[in-house]
Amino acid sequence: MPVLSGSNSRPLAKELAIELGMNHISMEARRFPDTEGYVRLAIENIEAVRSEPCVLVSTTFPDSGIIETLLLLEALQDVRAGRTDSLKGGVPNELPDVGPGIFLAIPYFGYSRQDKRFQPGEAISAKAIGKLLASRCDGIAVLDLHAPEALDEIGVPVALTSCMPEVAKHLQDTIAPDFILSPDKGAIDRASHVANIIGCKFSYLEKTRIDAHTIVHKAKDLDVDGSIVAIVDDMIATGGTICRASEALHTQGAIEVHAACTHGLFTGGAISRLDRFVDGVHAANSLQNPRAVISGAPALARGLMELLK
Ligand code: R5P
Repeated sequence: MPVLSGSNSRPLAKELAIELGMNHISMEARRFPDTEGYVRLAIENIEAVRSEPCVLVSTTFPDSGIIETLLLLEALQDVRAGRTDSLKGGVPNELPDVGPGIFLAIPYFGYSRQDKRFQPGEAISAKAIGKLLASRCDGIAVLDLHAPEALDEIGVPVALTSCMPEVAKHLQDTIAPDFILSPDKGAIDRASHVANIIGCKFSYLEKTRIDAHTIVHKAKDLDVDGSIVAIVDDMIATGGTICRASEALHTQGAIEVHAACTHGLFTGGAISRLDRFVDGVHAANSLQNPRAVISGAPALARGLMELLK
């Protein structure tokens, strides 16, 4: 089963190929001067993609990642179906359709936070993107999807996978936390999973988001005096959630506070902001960033195995 990648997830795709004991194939994915995308599977790799099921590793972030993922899937579908119509210079030997067998592994699913209608008239963006992707593949494995129900009933099997076991191991090996904190109710399952693996204390905060940059946490007594604490979330964007949670922890006596997440978006100066509030930031490599120290490959491999069984 070849593991393919375009431009946005190549290092992680290579790690996944090693994890699965498969070959990695780079697809050409570049931009024209006007920013429109171009993709191609090299002729020497066509047989590999047709001879067995294949996996494409590609994120849907930023928006250009959505287009690139769709084009890569379209190219793979055409290759597997033996489609050569419109080929400039004439049609080569006709190849039969080899049937379904394209799986998409998504390290970071962009638009995952618009998982419901918060006001009338809104699009459920996560569902819209999910349906587009599902129209061009036979199954999707997604790493730490913000709200799993967003991809219910999109037309293909979806395997939700998580790198929290790897986050737990990394935190235990590097900082050995005494306490894990979920910064809001939405991250409770993920953060408590990490606490259970490590075998340490756990609690959560209740968060209200006033706007993209303003976070308020409800006051709560946390048993963190003298503790090393790791705040665990699925993603860090502006860093506001983590910075406010860290303030609460320091106020209550925590001696060290770290932040850990799967998806390090780190928008608008988030890393320098975080550096003022926490002692360390530990992210998985679903997105390339300066704090990506945890591999998402084992989790994606587990998701793919679930799809293939
Ligand atoms: C929200 O529910 C997510 O789990 C994260 O807590 C949130 O997206 C983090 O955003 P920011 O870093 O901008 O506070």
